[in-house]
Amino acid sequence: MAYKMLFSPIKINQMELDNRIVLAPAHEGLATLDGFVTPAFINHYLRIAQGGVAMMVLGGVAINTRPFPALRLSDDKYIPGCKELTDRIHAETNTKIVPQIYDWLKVKRGWKQKVEEVPVEQLKESIDFHEAGALRAREAGFDAVEIHAAHGYLLAGLLSLRNHRTDEYGGYMEMESPSQERIARLAHLYDEFGGNIDARMKLTVEIYERLRKALGKDYPIGIRFNGEDFIVGGNTLTSTRIIATKLAALGLDYISISAGGKLEDSPGTDPYGLPYAYPPFGGYSGFRCMPQGEMPEACNVFLAEEIRKTVRAAGYDTPIMTAGRITRPELAESILQDGRSDLIGICRGLVRDPDWPIKSKEGRGDEINKCRYCNACLEAAVRGEGGHCKYRQEGNLGKVL
Ligand SMILES: Cc1cc2nc3c(=O)[nH]c(=O)nc-3n(C[C@H](O)[C@H](O)[C@H](O)COP(=O)(O)O)c2cc1C
Repeated sequence: MAYKMLFSPIKINQMELDNRIVLAPAHEGLATLDGFVTPAFINHYLRIAQGGVAMMVLGGVAINTRPFPALRLSDDKYIPGCKELTDRIHAETNTKIVPQIYDWLKVKRGWKQKVEEVPVEQLKESIDFHEAGALRAREAGFDAVEIHAAHGYLLAGLLSLRNHRTDEYGGYMEMESPSQERIARLAHLYDEFGGNIDARMKLTVEIYERLRKALGKDYPIGIRFNGEDFIVGGNTLTSTRIIATKLAALGLDYISISAGGKLEDSPGTDPYGLPYAYPPFGGYSGFRCMPQGEMPEACNVFLAEEIRKTVRAAGYDTPIMTAGRITRPELAESILQDGRSDLIGICRGLVRDPDWPIKSKEGRGDEINKCRYCNACLEAAVRGEGGHCKYRQEGNLGKVL
């Protein structure tokens, strides 16, 4: 078979994947404004699943409110619609389906609310929101949950080196050996000493531990976070390697490495006037998150590669996932063969052509309709028009006939 590793199975906790291709989380704007599944939402994901992807991560599923047509798990009333979705996917395909749950807190209270300004009580409340959302996800038949700790949201803000909180959720900082004077002088190097990483990880760890207790040891829990923030003073591999190793030690079942998408360098707002980090309104970090056609192929894989190396050297075999302009099956195969990642995340390529996996498997890679990485799908999703590819001649994935 062509692409031997790409089409080899992998087990994530008790969840068995047919191959290594994952739909990287993509907010598609097809839920109702108040967060319910729609027929177009189901059709969209069913069509992607029919193309043979092993697992689909649903982007940004809110565990509390958000003013956007995004799926929610913030109340029991959302469970039946989600159950209808998971039942359809499971009945008609072999694809696993996983919500990426997140707290919109960091941006919901105003333009660029600083992570330093969030009161501790709200952080504690977020643990409850995550637990309740994850329990609803399991009840609705999802195969796993993914904790969203990437980009510009609450957990990413806390994990970042740009988190200058002075309490136990930031801790500027505890170091055993160097003097305070030396710390001040070498502030930019804190992470080389591993100084405040535990404090920055505190909420993420508390959430993971609560989820594990609530969901049990056999239910897969993954996480997505930034391998590099791509903002001045933000996280780089120096700290993210350590964070990943600690997460692996905790027992996370997979680690998905994203990049950028930060609000700190964003000059703009979205069409609704809300803070926005991604193309075309965001800054450089936003463009690293959803790399456009002018960026090299696979431009963020080096992050997963370095993290994987560190995690493996520490003795953990936690599957690592990469994403970002992985355009061709031979490229995906070589990333796996070279041990740079265990899972291949593809987002826009599958929106352009959901049959990317099956065409690759059948040696028809040259028939894949190529994504232009123009981000028109993203802009359409943000406008609330559904994250469609305008170049897809067959029409919207979610079209309701
Ligand atoms: C329309 C759109 C929506 C996205 N929504 C999310 C999201 O909700 N959560 C997330 O972690 N990443 C999100 N991403 C980022 C993707 O998961 C992915 O990392 C990125 O697009 C790079 O992969 P690609 O080059 O295969 O598209 C989104 C990307 C696009 C294009």
